[in-house]
Amino acid sequence: MDNKKLLEIAEKAKDNAYVPYSNFRVGAAVLTKDNKVYTGCNIECASFGGTNCAERTALFKAISEGSKDILKIAIASSNSEKNEKTFPCGICRQVIIEFGKDIKIVTGYSKGEIYECSISDLLPNYFSGSEFN
Ligand code: THU
Repeated sequence: MDNKKLLEIAEKAKDNAYVPYSNFRVGAAVLTKDNKVYTGCNIECASFGGTNCAERTALFKAISEGSKDILKIAIASSNSEKNEKTFPCGICRQVIIEFGKDIKIVTGYSKGEIYECSISDLLPNYFSGSEFN
């Protein structure tokens, strides 16, 4: 699947965002090696720490359904139509890189400029767990 299509799916996924506090919608679409797509949105909580970002919602859906080979994650937000890129927060970066340093992040706007980079570009010198050994 090309980046434009994946980003369109992320843009649609943001319609389901539950955002009574920030009113900032985020949608994500995870593409797996076996060509499956899992979507997610941000889900807020009155106790703010309970909020879950769109990226982790989508990723956790993929993993919990047995798809661990993640190729790409497209991210869209309330700002996409303004041609602004939306990058994953620090917590999501760490969770994404858990499943592969070469996972691609796709953002921007499907009807505008589309940007792609690797998660390792966004999180250099990350904590990998190899430190345990
Ligand atoms: N948010 C995401 O869903 N993903 C990001 O990459 C950045 C932030 C959400 C969390 C919260 O619901 C709202 O955006 C404002 O921080």
